[in-house]
Amino acid sequence: MITTTPMLDIKKIRKDFPNLDVTVHGKPLVYLDNAATTFKPQCVVDAVEQHYSQGASNVHRGVHYLSEKATEDFEGARRKVQNFIHAKHPSEIIFTRGTTESINLVVQSYGRAFLKEGDEIIITEMEHHSNIVPWQMLCEEKGCALKVVPFNEDAELIWEEFEKVLGPKTKFVSVVHISNSLGTINPIAKIIKAARQYDVPVLVDAAQSISHAPIDVQALDCDFLAFSGHKLFGPTGIGVLYGKTDLLEKMPPVQGGGDMIASVTFEKTTYNVLPYKFEAGTPHVAGVIGLGAAVDYVKSIGFDAIGEYKKDLLDYGTQVLQAVPGLRLIGTAKEKTSVLSFVLEGIHPHDIGTIVSDEGVAIRTGHHCTQPVMKHFKVPATSRASLTFYNTKEELDALVKAIEKVKDVFK
Ligand code: ALA
Repeated sequence: MITTTPMLDIKKIRKDFPNLDVTVHGKPLVYLDNAATTFKPQCVVDAVEQHYSQGASNVHRGVHYLSEKATEDFEGARRKVQNFIHAKHPSEIIFTRGTTESINLVVQSYGRAFLKEGDEIIITEMEHHSNIVPWQMLCEEKGCALKVVPFNEDAELIWEEFEKVLGPKTKFVSVVHISNSLGTINPIAKIIKAARQYDVPVLVDAAQSISHAPIDVQALDCDFLAFSGHKLFGPTGIGVLYGKTDLLEKMPPVQGGGDMIASVTFEKTTYNVLPYKFEAGTPHVAGVIGLGAAVDYVKSIGFDAIGEYKKDLLDYGTQVLQAVPGLRLIGTAKEKTSVLSFVLEGIHPHDIGTIVSDEGVAIRTGHHCTQPVMKHFKVPATSRASLTFYNTKEELDALVKAIEKVKDVFK
């Protein structure tokens, strides 16, 4: 039976996602790995297909019809993203390959140009590796120091510890909005406000939060924001870096090549205006167009309905998983979104993932690219069910049933 709430017609929504109809090992797929990647609605698949089958051309490079049309669609998608996160200018939206590349761009450009020996960079203990390793590489090169804000046993950041490390030596703050392995929603508005006292830039890793709730970069006053298209029901290989104009203007480009230049001679090259200065080479045109379609789709459903539905789903999932003997949830913050990480006494997560997959249930197992989180909880890995608005309570029941199978196997 499929759940229908007055706010969200799940039956209708599920029809938008052809991938939900797949069967696995002869069983209906139960897809609970949305923190890793989300399925794409048909309108996104159509937009990408339409570009490749009817409109394939390069952008910013031709006066022929298809090139102009592709440029129009590409720049139109940039404006859609701008409106989606409420950026002031479309030129503050830089297309990248994803969150990882967006963070690396800031580190390689802003970090290498403006940070120096003795400067401190604040991150948190619950960062994804993509918001740890690039900063470590910079620290090694420049002699900066990484300051890590720890979290408590409920996986909530310890505010006093953040206040302790924030000070005159702080020159950058880079924090995850929603943890991919714990579901914790961090108080980023409060963090940004605190960082303002020292006038340091703040980068928000919005990889998980971009599909969770509306983001207004101007109201938040963040300096940079990074996210991936594929976690917002869009294509893989496309992502966004938002940056404030004044910062992007003073940052040097990271890659040289076509489109990022104003003029080239062997003596001197001058760079293009924003955002092109950071978009060297032929971009992922179809990916950008698909991302634009994904933004339209999410807006057509609306974050109010999505939020309410997901909260109900999370409450239900928490309740049914907690009722499983021997199961421990990892990540129990008060402010949390629909990520359910857990361990089962005496059974390795990889065994859990494999056996539930035989039942058609897709979850992720491993360290989720957050090894420090695993170290904190003294576990090698967790199993993680991550939910979105096309999931149902019946799918959570299927997960519990599959977990019971796992327990039977290991009895
Ligand atoms: N970072 C993605 C995840 O959490 C891939 O699974």
